Amino acid sequence: MKSYLLSLICLLFFCCCGKQPAIEEYLLIPHPVSIEYTSGFTKLKNNLSIAYTEELANEAELLQSYLSVNFSINTKMKPGSESGNIILKLDTSILPDKKEGYIMGIDDKITIKANSVIGIFNGIQTLRQIIQKKEGKWIVQKAIVTDYPAFSWRAFMLDEGRYFKGKEVVFDLLDEMAELKLNVFHWGLTNDQGWRIEIKKYPKLTEIGAYRDSSEIHKFGSNIFDGKPHGGFYTQEEIKEVVEYAAKRHIMVVPEVNMPGHACAAIAAYPWLGTSGKEIKVPTNFGVKYDVFNVADPKVIQFFEDVIDEMIPLFPSPVFHIGGDEVRYNHWNESPYVRSYMTKNGLKAPAELQVYFTNNMSNLLAGKSRRMMGWNEITGDRVHSYQKEESDADAKNIKLAKGTIVHFWKGDTALIRRTIEKGYDVVNSYHNSTYLDYSYEQIPLKKSYFFDPIPEGLTDDQKKRILGLGCQMWGEFIPTVESMNLKIYPRIAAYSEAGWTDKSHKDYNRFLHALEPFLKRWKAKGVKYDVAK
Ligand code: ACM
Repeated sequence: MKSYLLSLICLLFFCCCGKQPAIEEYLLIPHPVSIEYTSGFTKLKNNLSIAYTEELANEAELLQSYLSVNFSINTKMKPGSESGNIILKLDTSILPDKKEGYIMGIDDKITIKANSVIGIFNGIQTLRQIIQKKEGKWIVQKAIVTDYPAFSWRAFMLDEGRYFKGKEVVFDLLDEMAELKLNVFHWGLTNDQGWRIEIKKYPKLTEIGAYRDSSEIHKFGSNIFDGKPHGGFYTQEEIKEVVEYAAKRHIMVVPEVNMPGHACAAIAAYPWLGTSGKEIKVPTNFGVKYDVFNVADPKVIQFFEDVIDEMIPLFPSPVFHIGGDEVRYNHWNESPYVRSYMTKNGLKAPAELQVYFTNNMSNLLAGKSRRMMGWNEITGDRVHSYQKEESDADAKNIKLAKGTIVHFWKGDTALIRRTIEKGYDVVNSYHNSTYLDYSYEQIPLKKSYFFDPIPEGLTDDQKKRILGLGCQMWGEFIPTVESMNLKIYPRIAAYSEAGWTDKSHKDYNRFLHALEPFLKRWKAKGVKYDVAK
């Protein structure tokens, strides 16, 4: 009764004064499904307790480290307990059809509930963003947050084939991804200009293929070179470290080994992998090359089997990316060996040979419980003008294997629709909207923000085939971490919201406002970012 009277007096007081206690709205990226604010704050005192069940130990430890590093708040850990200042709790009744969802109640206590560990992790990422400083104290506005993503595939890609960055840079990117709820790290590990993963059976891939003498600078075709050798690669032990670091942050690492094109670094190491038989060096300039793997040679197929065999134990991800983009068919057309292989197998065009080879790889991967993914050239549809010039027909007589994830980057909406109608799942990384190597004039922040992975004109059933989006940090002209960061930040935050927040809840001004603390944090840690408006 006493407390009822007290509440009434408080209410009368606020009404008479014409004042409600101010609500400190959250600055949060990506924006959640719903926030129901209630009045008042909860204070985060030093030595607060975190209660959690044993299966949430990793998440509780991450929360402990965020509170310590970002807010200098010490915590007491209470494993196996359901009572504390912050409570992490698995509960199958919470958003049961939303695997990544969570509900967080902020009252005198903070409770994060989810039906899965990943949901709890996502709730923690939200919590670390909504802690604010008020009159020298760490507080959180009271509210109930209900949240889950619009898309299940929210990827960031780093192409290290062009420039090797090393694991410390990757760890840092993974931390940023985790905070932004990006959940797929698509790791470009091979390209014309570098092979970046140790394969024990083929040591020259990294002894030779990981190094080049010089690098073209400024832009494609500049013909200006820095004159400096560049190289590096990941040992298998380092790969394991990265994958483990990502797994702790619920980020799936999808490796990309490009085949049958973008093959120069591998061919420089082992010329028999190529079709022309010529010895080449790891290229120093960028752009699409003519050297392609000789997929008609059983030894080359064995090579891929061996590479995949060594990689599968390193990458638990159910998805394996085989690239498959920008294959120039000249060397295949010019090779009697390849032409006779095509005739023998009833393949009428090089695009059909590519699909035939890709399906081989798909079978191989399926045998190892992996699903193949590749850039959208793998469907055999013609997307490049140079394919027309070389009169390479579409692959008309052969279909890409079922179950493949088609990574759309080039073509029009009709092509995405056609791909979906053929029954493939699609990740949308349309180049004009998601390529981080493009300038801010080409893809301003606002355009990144409003990228919708679902193109117009799809039926509801077809929409379900769009798994989500990727944003790609292609590596040609980012020799330094600083030059890379300028391309990534702040656009990565816009892609986070494009992947997580339902289109109906997007609000660019709110996003810009919520970006401010990110900009401050990036600046404080020395990350240079580009145009943030
Ligand atoms: C690509 O940009 N070549 C996928």
